[in-house]
Amino acid sequence: MAQDIAFYKDWFAQYVAGYAQEDIETQRYLDLKRDHTLRVFENASLIAETLPLPEQTLKIALLGALFHDVGRFEQFSLYHTYSDRDSVNHGYLGSRILRSENVLAEEKKEIRQSVRAVVALHNRLVLPRAIPQHIREATNIVRDSDKLDIFPILVANFIHDGSKNDVVTMGLQDCPSAYSPNALSNVLNGESVRYAEMQYVNDFKLLLSSWVFNLEFSTSMQILYKRGYMESLLDTLPDLPEMKKVKHAVRNEMQRVLAGYLSEEE
Ligand SMILES: [Fe+2]
Repeated sequence: MAQDIAFYKDWFAQYVAGYAQEDIETQRYLDLKRDHTLRVFENASLIAETLPLPEQTLKIALLGALFHDVGRFEQFSLYHTYSDRDSVNHGYLGSRILRSENVLAEEKKEIRQSVRAVVALHNRLVLPRAIPQHIREATNIVRDSDKLDIFPILVANFIHDGSKNDVVTMGLQDCPSAYSPNALSNVLNGESVRYAEMQYVNDFKLLLSSWVFNLEFSTSMQILYKRGYMESLLDTLPDLPEMKKVKHAVRNEMQRVLAGYLSEEE
């Protein structure tokens, strides 16, 4: 018999508890991923409830959100890092763990396989073209939810410059007004900035600004807007004429997507 979400939330809590560490610092790293997961799950619930989803796709999306980072705990325990480049792809690892732990044993094969696919795909730079529509939709819900959670964490790092952290700023050069012309033109053309192209911290800010062009659901944009995340990012951009253009392009895109929502609010 299929289980409800509460059953899987309990399973997740127990699974994470199995990795408990005596060392407080190490435990803190694990707590970060547990708390992140629960917030991503909440974001996914908010997005999913506004979409006309078949019940099965809804379940796949919510389980995908709950398990998207289930591989992080084993990754950290084996390699002491969350860097996939320096260890393993945590999406694939998570998908394998769901199978080896037999977590979804009581679900239909279709659900089991789809949830594992969502977990395996959630961290892909670009989703493969040939995936079934319900897997694409569920994965996109998880990806938007993930972005919404990481966004304020990254922005906070730009604001509290006392606590610079290489993990978060990826070793980029922090020159107050330096940026890469390519990153700028990407945002101004409504395109994504690529991670590999970043050279300065300002490029990272431009990359995050460009997320406004690749959120999949208007509910995600509403959340981004309501929580004030994008405005606090735009506030950290250097005071240069070209950055005013960036703010303009980003706000325009938000307004375009939120047109219906904003007029309803008034
Ligand atoms: Fe992840």
